[in-house]
Amino acid sequence: MAVTRPRTKTIAASPAPSAKALRGLSSRLAAVREEERTRLSRTLHDELGQMLTSLKLDLAWVAGEVTKKDAHPPLALVNRLQSAVGLVDVTLATVRRISRDLRPPVLDHLGLAEAIKWEATVFEARTGIRCRVLASAARGAGRSRGERSIVLFRILQEALTNVSRHSHAGAVRIELREQQRWLRLEVRDNGRGITAAQLRDPASLGLLGMRERAIAAGGELTVRGAAGRGTTVSVRLPRTTAKGGDA
Ligand SMILES: Nc1ncnc2c1ncn2[C@@H]1O[C@H](COP(=O)(O)OP(=O)(O)OP(=O)(O)O)[C@@H](O)[C@H]1O
Ligand SMILES: [Mg+2]
Repeated sequence: MAVTRPRTKTIAASPAPSAKALRGLSSRLAAVREEERTRLSRTLHDELGQMLTSLKLDLAWVAGEVTKKDAHPPLALVNRLQSAVGLVDVTLATVRRISRDLRPPVLDHLGLAEAIKWEATVFEARTGIRCRVLASAARGAGRSRGERSIVLFRILQEALTNVSRHSHAGAVRIELREQQRWLRLEVRDNGRGITAAQLRDPASLGLLGMRERAIAAGGELTVRGAAGRGTTVSVRLPRTTAKGGDA
């Protein structure tokens, strides 16, 4: 009896994406995320902020009308109005904070060095860890505020989050050097020091993310730790983008 073999169809396996392609994709995703954050931040700030301000004015108007009609309005009504105004104020402040966290306006308006100082101040106030910022710019380097600055700013945020979560440090030193060809950032803490095993661990996604951001921007990032003597994150990015624009 003839054995009929099932007819098989060969499908050409598509090649696995190269490391370069994956890097390109991750860099594109990061850029899209930044655009989205900027858009969200503006919508929150402009639209929601304006609506809340109008609401506050309306409440003030109602309060005025109430006291115009009655010199001694019911206490419950006055209390309700006051608490509504208070709630609008708190909501406004929250909207501003979320909008600022999504995309720090200082980065776009005043540049990287000022944004780093602002982030350090907020970090110190929130964690109690002393934070010193040194920033130096080469002549003609200008105040960076482009695509590279955002990459460095996000790396700084991740490095600082790690300091507050893992280092047990008492102080951090942040140094930004804007040289003619390179933007360099170093975040050094005086905590317990990251270990070689933690550095090698493939589950260290925060570290991987920082490194990938740096590589996608044409630069490099290193992390060093010494037991009991702290951890240092160093990154350098070229100042000019592939398209020839400034950082
Ligand atoms: N500044 C630091 N001082 C001491 N240990 C650190 C420091 N930064 C990182 N580590 C160690 O390295 C590990 C990996 O850091 P990584 O940022 O990749 O992950 P994570 O912070 O634990 O989680 P996440 O993915 O949320 O960032 C941490 O869990 C911590 O043990
Ligand atoms: Mg982390």
